[in-house]
Amino acid sequence: MKKIYSIIGLCILIIGVSLSILFINTAKSKSYYTEDYRPQYHFTPEENWMNDPNGMVYYKGEYHLFYQHNPHDNKWGPMYWGHAVSKDMISWEHFPIALEPDDLGTIFSGSAVVDWNDTSGFFDGDEGLVAIFTHNGDGQKQSIAYSKDKGRTWKTYEGNPVIPSDPEIKDFRDPKVFWHEKTNKWVMVLAAGKKIMFYGSPNLIDWEYLSEFGNEGALGGVWECPDLFELPVDGDPNNTKWVLEVDIGDGAIAGGSGAQYFIGEFDGTTFVNDSDPKNVNWLDYGADFYAAQSFSDIPESDNRRIMIAWMSNWLYANQVPTENWRGGASFPRVMELKTTIDNQIKLFQRPIDEIQSIVGEEILKIENKVISSSDASNLLSEIEADLYLLNVEIELDKPADFGFKIRKSSENDGETTLGYTHSKNELFVKRIQAKVDYFSPYFNGRHFVDIGEASTIKLNVLVDKSSIEVFAQDGEFVITDLIFPSDNDRGLEFFIEGNEVLIRHLEIHELKTTWR
Ligand code: FRU
Repeated sequence: MKKIYSIIGLCILIIGVSLSILFINTAKSKSYYTEDYRPQYHFTPEENWMNDPNGMVYYKGEYHLFYQHNPHDNKWGPMYWGHAVSKDMISWEHFPIALEPDDLGTIFSGSAVVDWNDTSGFFDGDEGLVAIFTHNGDGQKQSIAYSKDKGRTWKTYEGNPVIPSDPEIKDFRDPKVFWHEKTNKWVMVLAAGKKIMFYGSPNLIDWEYLSEFGNEGALGGVWECPDLFELPVDGDPNNTKWVLEVDIGDGAIAGGSGAQYFIGEFDGTTFVNDSDPKNVNWLDYGADFYAAQSFSDIPESDNRRIMIAWMSNWLYANQVPTENWRGGASFPRVMELKTTIDNQIKLFQRPIDEIQSIVGEEILKIENKVISSSDASNLLSEIEADLYLLNVEIELDKPADFGFKIRKSSENDGETTLGYTHSKNELFVKRIQAKVDYFSPYFNGRHFVDIGEASTIKLNVLVDKSSIEVFAQDGEFVITDLIFPSDNDRGLEFFIEGNEVLIRHLEIHELKTTWR
C-alpha cells in the first residue's frame, strides 16, 4: 500500500513540475523580446552589451554569428564572444558564450573559418572550425581557438598568441582570415593603427608578414575590423575585383564610426587600390553601420557575399535608451560589384532574399498614381505600422522634393524623415530623438547622400522597432540609422514639396517578428 502511495505521489510531483515548466516557458515566450525598442527581426543579444559581429562562418547548414559581448553589463566592458546560430540568418538561436577572457586578455574582434583539410592539425585529419581573434591584454596579439563539435565548444590553442603584440603598434587587431586559393595559403587582414597589414600562413598557426596598405581613403580615426573578398563584376566570373572593407573609429561620413571600402587587386601578397588614393567610398551613409564582416565558407552553389554590421556608433553606443540589452546587428545584406552608368565599379547592397519568409500581410499597394502636394498627406493617413518593408518607385517629370515621415505620432516629439531633395539630388534620413528620451548630443542629425541626377527614385526600406535601413537606387546607396520612437509612434506620412510626382509603384508589407 505504502508503495502505491509513493508511486502516486511521485507521479503528482512529476506532473506538477512539468506543468510549471510549461507555464514558465509559455509566459516567457509571450513576453520574450517585447521590451521597448527591442528589434523584432534583427539580431540582438538576450541580455547585456553587444558590439561587433565576429567569427561569421557557415558550416554544415548553420550560420554562426559570434559577437563582442559583455555578459556582465549593458555597457562595453570585458569582452567575450557571444554566440548565436541560425539556419536562415533570420531566426537566431542563442548559444552559450564561446570564448571568455583568459591570462592573455579579453577577447576582441576576429573571424572564423572552416579548416577543411586540417591544415592546423587540430582535427585528426578531419575538418573543423577555427576562430582567429585578438587577445587584448598586455598589448594586442592575435590568437586562435578551435571547435571539433560544430562550434558548440571551443578550446584555445595552447601556443597562443600566434602573432605576438608589437610594442610599436598600440592598435593591432581584428584579424579576418580566408583561404587564398591561387597562392594556396591562409591570408590574414589585420588593422594596425591607420593601416591594414597582411599576413600569410600554411596552417593558421605560423604567420608570416606579407605587406601593408594605408594612407588612402578616410583616415579620421583608427582603422578597425577589415575584411577582404573577391567578387565578380556585373556577375561575370571572368572579371573579378577585390574589395577591401575597412571601418574607421571616427570621422566617418555621418559622424563617429563608419565603414569604407576600396576596390582593387590582391595577388595573395599585396592589395593595390584601383582608384585615386584620396577617394573615399562609403559602404553606408547612415550613422549606424559599423564593424561590418562577411560570412566565411558560404558554399559555392550559393556564392553570395553576405555582410552583417553592428548597428550602432561609438559616439553614443553606450547611451542608447535600451535597458536589458544594448546593441544589435544590421539585417544581413548581399554585396555585389556593378558598373554604374558613369562607368564606375561600385558595391551594391540588398537585403538577403530570405527576408521573404517574414514578409506578412500587404498593408498598401499603389500603382501608377499621380499625387500632388495637397493630396500627399492623406495618402497614407490610415496606416498604423511599426515593422514593415516599404518599396517605392517615384518618377519626377518636374522638380519636387518628397519623402516619408516614419513611425510618426502626434504625441511624441521625436521624428524620423526619409526624404529626397531634388535641387541637391540628395537622399536623406533626418532623425530627432524625443526630448523625454534624450540620451546623446550626437544622435540628432541629417544623414545624406548625393545620388546623382535621377528622374526615378527607387527605395527599399526596412523598418523595425528601433532602426531604419534604406536601400536606394537598387542598392547603390544605403542609409542605416537607429531610431527610438515610442511604441505608439506607428503612423506613416507621405509629403511633397513642389510639383506633383508619379508613384509608379508603392508597396508596404508587414514584417513578422522572428523571436516569438
Ligand atoms: C570595433 C572594436 C574593435 C575591437 C572591438 C572591441 O568596434 O573597437 O576594433 O576589437 O571593438 O570590443
